[in-house]
Amino acid sequence: MLGAALCAVQLSAQPKLTADNIEEVLGAMTLEEKAELCVGLIHYAPPAAGSRNYVPGAAGNTKAIPRFGIPSTVLPDGPAGIRIDPTREGSDRTYYGTGFPVGTAIASSWDVDLVENMTAAMGNEVLEYGADVILSPAMNIHRNPLCGRNFEYYSEDPVLTGKIGAAYIRGIQSNGVGTSVKHFAVNNQETNRHENDSRVDTRALREIYLKGFEIAIKEAGPWTVMSSYNKLNGEYTQQSYDLLTRILRDEWGFDGIVMTDWGSKEGTVKAAAAGNDLMMPGNETEVQRLIDAVKSGELPEADLDRNVKRMLEYIVKTPHFKGYKYSDAPDLKAHAKVARAAATESMVLLKNEDGVLPLKGTEKVALFGISSVDFVAGGTGSGNVNKAYVVNMVQGLENAGFTLVESLKDFNQKYVDFQKLNMRIGGESILLGESKVPETGLSKTYINSLVPESDLAIVVIGRNAGEGGDRRVDNDFNLTETERQLLNDVTTAYHLAGKKVVAVMNIGGVIETASWKNLADAILLAWQPGQEGGDAVADVLTGKVNPSGKLPMTFPVAYMDHPSSYNFPTGLETPGRRGRNGSEGVKNWDYTDYAESIWVGYRWFTTQDKAVSYPFGYGLSYTTFEYSKPVVKADRDGNITASVTVTNTGKVAGKEAVQLYVAAPAGGMEKPARELKAFDKTKLLAPGESETLTFSITPYELASFNIDANEWETAAGSYTFYFSKNVNDLSTSAKVSLKKAGSYEVTDAYAHIK
Ligand code: GLC
Repeated sequence: MLGAALCAVQLSAQPKLTADNIEEVLGAMTLEEKAELCVGLIHYAPPAAGSRNYVPGAAGNTKAIPRFGIPSTVLPDGPAGIRIDPTREGSDRTYYGTGFPVGTAIASSWDVDLVENMTAAMGNEVLEYGADVILSPAMNIHRNPLCGRNFEYYSEDPVLTGKIGAAYIRGIQSNGVGTSVKHFAVNNQETNRHENDSRVDTRALREIYLKGFEIAIKEAGPWTVMSSYNKLNGEYTQQSYDLLTRILRDEWGFDGIVMTDWGSKEGTVKAAAAGNDLMMPGNETEVQRLIDAVKSGELPEADLDRNVKRMLEYIVKTPHFKGYKYSDAPDLKAHAKVARAAATESMVLLKNEDGVLPLKGTEKVALFGISSVDFVAGGTGSGNVNKAYVVNMVQGLENAGFTLVESLKDFNQKYVDFQKLNMRIGGESILLGESKVPETGLSKTYINSLVPESDLAIVVIGRNAGEGGDRRVDNDFNLTETERQLLNDVTTAYHLAGKKVVAVMNIGGVIETASWKNLADAILLAWQPGQEGGDAVADVLTGKVNPSGKLPMTFPVAYMDHPSSYNFPTGLETPGRRGRNGSEGVKNWDYTDYAESIWVGYRWFTTQDKAVSYPFGYGLSYTTFEYSKPVVKADRDGNITASVTVTNTGKVAGKEAVQLYVAAPAGGMEKPARELKAFDKTKLLAPGESETLTFSITPYELASFNIDANEWETAAGSYTFYFSKNVNDLSTSAKVSLKKAGSYEVTDAYAHIK
């Protein structure tokens, strides 16, 4: 009796966690409880199946501590939609997530409102499927075209990356659930991703690789940040006080929690001290390390208490803590419409000779390319969504009323079915996804025989890639010989008959285009447009939607035109040699030299005036736009406002993404010819309609990083503002002078690294 009474007294004496008594709860927690809260729940012992804290297929959970009313919280992937198991034991229903367009696609929309609207729908699925934080956005810079996870990421440019990431975070978090900005930081290859050391100078680190994170974190306040697997200048990012405390918190004011990526390393204690609050997915060894370290004095308990306090501040925000009664039934039909609309706004029209698009009067289409059937909605790995279906291009074109040449459609379907069976039997698989069926050849005779049966030919080129591996130059970045032959034979046959050919690229990352873009009459870059992809492609090909996407990265003439290609694991010059784990000196395996520094993407090509196949920011429309003479002025503090009026001078309604590039005054630090500092997209303008877009730029946003002085510096002098359709369009500009220079201090994190 006494024991029960004592226990009751003890229980009743427990402070139940609220948003207002965090210090009190912290003070009542045992060392074991503190350590457990800072380590993910070992997934081998998840919350009881069927409990409200267990979502099968979620990537991880945090630990519950019932005596304080602390629930386990649920953390699923991923950037293109919630990733959970689509079926559950004991349940006869399904739990599909909507497969939205991938990160690179939505960045191609250059439309922050569209992205926020799309992720508001995605965040609703996080809430209604009983989760608390989605492990996205993924925002690493496209340093090199061959990074296997570029499809998840946005751009070669940090401003586009940061603004799109901020919009993504706002949309998700508008549902009262959290995000996890990843992979922080300088995680730009998949080869040896757990151990590779990214060696980068301080200027490139701050101007290129951290700037996107800085913008998104300052503008949108993500609940969490995920540190990356890799090292940065010799130290694991998850164990770097410089990165996780000095820069992320002391400089940028981040006040959420930092979790590791999904893999435990030896340095648990160093990570906790550095400000990595949560070790995911978590195991008992890590709990014990923290307990032992506090007991031995290696880890000051104040450091652990700091992390636990941040964990408690995170937990009180979560739907699980608030006892949200989730439905397990988000409106997937409504979200499918959102996904389709976002996909159409993300597609980029690269070529449209003689206005072959939008298709008019076309009835019968010869649809070439096995990717028309094996259509890629999104990349592989944790960024892959367990979706109910994918609308491929056969279905999309037929849904739009086209008649497809039957024999070709049947051949492609049967070939893909056989190859996938063959791969499955062969055990060929990539991390969390299906290998791509390679293109097959068709005889010239057969191709020629289809010409009389069809009004037009469409050739689909597909690519897939994902987590855990980088892409290759041959037969990946470059076309396969079979693809090249197919394009040649189809265009020869159809052009001989005076008929047109449209190429559609269903890819997740840049491929070579210069050698073949002259063949097709029109080229549509569909990206990996999500589960509604085939219908979205048809919406654009038919003109139901006027394409308004623009490239978020450069399409170079050749792979080696990128300076980073000389220091990339699967590049031609320096094929990555697999060192043993724990090896030290294997280039692009144990370490990767970011020798190109800030010269990434268009910064290199414009400054060197080097030809590209398609420039950063490039994209056509079915209409035309004219820009007025811009107005640019600076107030006495150097804050700049700029405006330009855009007029639709064509015959159909359309949207225009206007890019604002700035050329800094000559002299002083070496700087890129011009850099993107802002962008905006018009509403849908009717023919003849105009809209004035206004931009605000602060002197800090114009600053470059001076390694010697270890500070940001904005030079005084004359700046040229370009209002552009793409990075090489310099037709509309204005100058503005900054009378006084500015400088902005930072901590000594990674100081003076050249
Ligand atoms: C993976 C990925 C990360 C993902 C996590 C959970 O290794 O790097 O992006 O969120 O593990 O699946």
